[in-house]
Amino acid sequence: MSRHFDRLLIGSNLKMYKTNQQTLEYARQHQALTADIPRSELTLFILPAYVTLADVCRQVDHTLLKVGAQNMHWEEPGQFTGEISPGMLQEIGVDLVMVGHAERRQLFGEQDGMVNQRALSALTHGFQVLICIGETAEDKAYRVSAERLRQQLTIALHGVQAVDLERVWVAYEPVWAIGAGGQQADPSYANTMHAVIHATLESLYPEHGSWVPVLYGGSVNLENAPELIAQPEIDGLFIGRAAWDASDFYRILRSVIEIHRGVTK
Ligand code: PGA
Repeated sequence: MSRHFDRLLIGSNLKMYKTNQQTLEYARQHQALTADIPRSELTLFILPAYVTLADVCRQVDHTLLKVGAQNMHWEEPGQFTGEISPGMLQEIGVDLVMVGHAERRQLFGEQDGMVNQRALSALTHGFQVLICIGETAEDKAYRVSAERLRQQLTIALHGVQAVDLERVWVAYEPVWAIGAGGQQADPSYANTMHAVIHATLESLYPEHGSWVPVLYGGSVNLENAPELIAQPEIDGLFIGRAAWDASDFYRILRSVIEIHRGVTK
């Protein structure tokens, strides 16, 4: 099935690394550096920490740079101390909500069912949703990576209507490849897992599953980005450490744009 989605998607998860002022400066540099790159075939996004979102959303031109939250509670509103509701994110103009990042799953006990509730709520509230999935090193060693990805994705999308798929992106981030100390995924292995994800989407949604782009994340950097984006099943890149300097982000972007254009996805 040929893909409906031909844009290149590139974004960075800023995790818990930048203060408000640092994030504003990063976003400012980011926009200045990428100003001359047409967005007709490209979407750029950043996911800053919650406390910076209001200021960043005010500062950026959202047609050039989408701004997303790293998480969101599904209730609106509620007795959930320390959580952030959909309405709070709507009010400040957030474009995108990420759900199910591996660090949420591993460190904060996030279950597949919670990822599903967050995804459904984010879609209901009009956000673009980035659903993160990925197998652990143990899953990989037992050779159940494909099963794990199918399971995470099927649960995350439970109850999601086909018409809403235009607002769904998936990030494949093998847990063993994320963060300092993570191993680099072999691009052909990543491509195979992306093919599993695309096939799962197309079996869950025979008509519209091919609309959903699948980004690769996990130790993406300037060296491996071109080979990753050259893989036919990889639609974009989701970058952590290597993109936290705006010039580095820009260099990675430049290194992949032409390659992406030349590969039939
Ligand atoms: P990394 O992070 O690029 O630093 O491995 C990726 C992520 O956690 O999304």
